[in-house]
Amino acid sequence: MPMSRGLPHSWEVAEMGHSSDFLSFPQGGPEGVQGHLALSLSLMDFEIQAQQSSMAPYHIRKYRENDRTRVLDVFSQGMNEHIPTTFCHILKLPRTLVLLLGVPLTLFLFSGSWVLALVASLILLAALRFLSRYPWTKFIAMSLRTDMSDITKTYLGKPGSCFWVVEAEGQVVGIMGVLPATLQKEKLQLLHLCVAPEHRGQGIAKALVRTALQFARDQGYSQVILITSLVQHSARALYQHMGFQKTHQFFSSMIWRLVAIPTVGFVYHLPSAGASEAQGLGGGL
Ligand SMILES: CC(C)(COP(=O)(O)OP(=O)(O)OC[C@H]1O[C@@H](n2cnc3c(N)ncnc32)[C@H](O)[C@@H]1OP(=O)(O)O)[C@@H](O)C(=O)NCCC(=O)NCCS
Repeated sequence: MPMSRGLPHSWEVAEMGHSSDFLSFPQGGPEGVQGHLALSLSLMDFEIQAQQSSMAPYHIRKYRENDRTRVLDVFSQGMNEHIPTTFCHILKLPRTLVLLLGVPLTLFLFSGSWVLALVASLILLAALRFLSRYPWTKFIAMSLRTDMSDITKTYLGKPGSCFWVVEAEGQVVGIMGVLPATLQKEKLQLLHLCVAPEHRGQGIAKALVRTALQFARDQGYSQVILITSLVQHSARALYQHMGFQKTHQFFSSMIWRLVAIPTVGFVYHLPSAGASEAQGLGGGL
């Protein structure tokens, strides 16, 4: 079962292994803190230990080839779950309402048949349901053909990129990749952040994003960028909550324009090392 939003959690990042990085995450967190979690961070390996008995311990580590099936499952599930939201979004569009009322009514006026009008309404609803599914299945298929066709090669083959998984009780429950932005190599692009539904609301995505921010800082990037969509409400809340700023929005293809769902760009400006030291932030983000 997903944990309810705003569930109290506080994170601590402790020095670990050979890493000299030390991050201190906000203590206390939201009101009514009941649990205490510790996240141990090294350059290569991150471990989250849940010190609250009811929560499973989480471990953030680099992707391995035998994670592939589960990673693709978490990714596909994370994307497919936006289909119902997309369907609702389409149904609320003024042009959809015109279509859904206008076509059956016109058919009824010309034929005098309520049955025909009803059948037309059902066919239209089925078409809209298909339309809401199409951009997501297309996006999943495109990702599986491109960067996710060989995750090791794309993300772990060169410096400046990485792919992490979050493991809980031996199972991958969260994923995220980072690559240098295609045209602006000084920017790191965050991709495919997904957490399995039953593990949500426990700060896993937050820990993954912090991992990416720390990685970006270590690798000398100046910004972390990402794109998401208007209907990915949790993701947009997460990024804004973590200090990302919205940069722009656009329709990434005709199909997204048709369903009136813009892609939204976000950026996180990393303070320069000098600025961090001046503010007494050390290695923190
Ligand atoms: C977005 C997603 C990764 C969040 O994962 P998560 O582990 O539940 O997120 P966290 O527990 O770390 O939440 C961190 C913050 O994000 C925000 N947030 C996350 N889910 C939210 C929701 N459903 N409603 C409102 N805010 C939410 C909150 O600000 C939260 O902080 P809080 O717990 O202090 O209130 C997850 O919902 C998911 O996998 N969604 C489907 C895939 C997807 O859309 N990925 C984004 C790709 S761009």
